[in-house]
Amino acid sequence: MGALCYRAAEMKGDAPQEVCVFAPATVANVACGYDVLGFAIDKPGDEVVARLSAEPGLRITKITGDDGKLPIEAEKNTAGVAALDLLKHLGMLDLGIEMEIHKKMPFGSGLGSSAASAVAGAYAVNKLIGEPLTKKQLLPFAMTGEASADGAWHADNVGPCLLGGIVFIRDNQELDIAQLPVPKDLWAAVVHPDIEILTKVARGILPSEIPLANVTQQIGNLGGLICGLIQEDYGMISRSVHDVIAEPRRQKLIPEFYQAKRAAMAAGALGFSISGAGPSVFALCQGEETARKVGGAISAAFAQVDLGNQVYISQINQSGVRVVR
Ligand code: HSE
Repeated sequence: MGALCYRAAEMKGDAPQEVCVFAPATVANVACGYDVLGFAIDKPGDEVVARLSAEPGLRITKITGDDGKLPIEAEKNTAGVAALDLLKHLGMLDLGIEMEIHKKMPFGSGLGSSAASAVAGAYAVNKLIGEPLTKKQLLPFAMTGEASADGAWHADNVGPCLLGGIVFIRDNQELDIAQLPVPKDLWAAVVHPDIEILTKVARGILPSEIPLANVTQQIGNLGGLICGLIQEDYGMISRSVHDVIAEPRRQKLIPEFYQAKRAAMAAGALGFSISGAGPSVFALCQGEETARKVGGAISAAFAQVDLGNQVYISQINQSGVRVVR
């Protein structure tokens, strides 16, 4: 109890006793930016509650929405690992904290589910202790949490989930990242078909070497997309949202992928590809009305083969993880 009082006294006066945060789903890669580009959407997302407790140490007391799949042990759970890594960095591992995790999006969905939990875990604890670190400073801790789930180190889900907007990662090891401008009429239609793809499997089918011509094309598209965002040039965005590296190899994991793509483009999408490792797919669109039409068209393509799906229509979420109460 002595250590707890000492640590609590160190915290800023306005630190809450309990905090509930929401961390949004994200679309990683955005077609041409494998592992280096991602954006956040408004929903779905995960919620994490953190509250101070008299018993020293971090404990996860409740998990909902996970069908019993997630470990309750904090050191094995993405949200717990992220929070523990943060507390260790701050020398506060003895602080008593109870955590609840409310999963509101499916696993293996390509929507950045484990990144959202990791971000929410680190952000909730940081808020609970009076916000000693900025959002950007939380990035390495959230990354450690996510990496504990999929074993890979890429910030294209964690970055936008934490900061919001469209995030470009120059270097995943250095975590050198930048938020890109978001054209005001840019919308996303994201559709999650009811199948599960393990990120590990989707990464495993990619070759370690890529033909130079493909690399050149992909760099051109990535540069073009960034220019298009900066200049609000929807034509340039549309010409750039193409993936010649991961999509041709991963599409076979997603039933009706090309039918869905054709339907999206016919309905007016600027571009269409796989969200992260899939199976979710996304389309960038100009305007809400087009995004709704495109979302409906993609959904109908999956429904044609009796594949249930959920459609999310969203502007780019510019706030990222946030406190809900
Ligand atoms: N960039 C990653 C991939 C995102 O495509 O494997 C997965 O979360």
